[in-house]
Amino acid sequence: MSAHAIIIGSGALTLPFDFEPLDVSMETRYGQASATPVAGGAGSNKVLLLARHGIPHRIAPHAINYRANLVLLQDLGTERIIAVNTVGGIAPEAKTGVVLFPDQIIDYSWGREQSFSDSNKLYHVDFSEPYDEELRDELVAAAQLAQIEVVVGGVYGCTQGPRFETPAEVNRMGGDGCTIVGMTGMPEASLARELGIPYASVCLVVNPAAGRDGDTIDLDALAIVSQSGMERIGRLLVCFFEGLER
Ligand code: HPA
Repeated sequence: MSAHAIIIGSGALTLPFDFEPLDVSMETRYGQASATPVAGGAGSNKVLLLARHGIPHRIAPHAINYRANLVLLQDLGTERIIAVNTVGGIAPEAKTGVVLFPDQIIDYSWGREQSFSDSNKLYHVDFSEPYDEELRDELVAAAQLAQIEVVVGGVYGCTQGPRFETPAEVNRMGGDGCTIVGMTGMPEASLARELGIPYASVCLVVNPAAGRDGDTIDLDALAIVSQSGMERIGRLLVCFFEGLER
């Protein structure tokens, strides 16, 4: 028996498990979480789903209360977190439609509540490996079983949003070594580390980052890629939970 939480971002992720809303308050000691998680069973494993942008989808990336979301999941017994993120592709391997497991982060966001440190406790956490390797390996193995092509490794550049980047910003990020760009990877990953909860991210590339294909960002096309990609990520997660049963 293990307890996993999946933090869902943009795009509808449906999983074939029976989920029920939990009878818990969204209010935490760090303020209000994005939504009430739903809980379900995947075999003998417990899964919590939390909608990062709220239900309905309304909370901008910079306005998400990442600390409340994480303590809520911790209080509900979460032992590992799988973050699902939609991103733009910067490097050539991050083609639109690809599922990518990042292994590094550069944080360009600002002004977000990014630590549980306070006058009582200071968290200087090691963040050399920002994502949990074991969890990532298990997710990669599940992708192989589900016959889903993935890119393993890459640098997630986290921007402030909610606007998309300028091509000049994307060029700078590419020069910095970013493979993909998203708006919600941080401080979620480092807060999970402060709490000691293993955390890995499954990224779906839904568009070429600004300027990367010489065109403007097409939000309609992005929504279509997101929908078909989430179907693949759903299959990947089913294989992941089946793997835990073995
Ligand atoms: N930039 C930032 N966040 C994103 C993008 C992007 O191009 N696509 C999806 N999320």
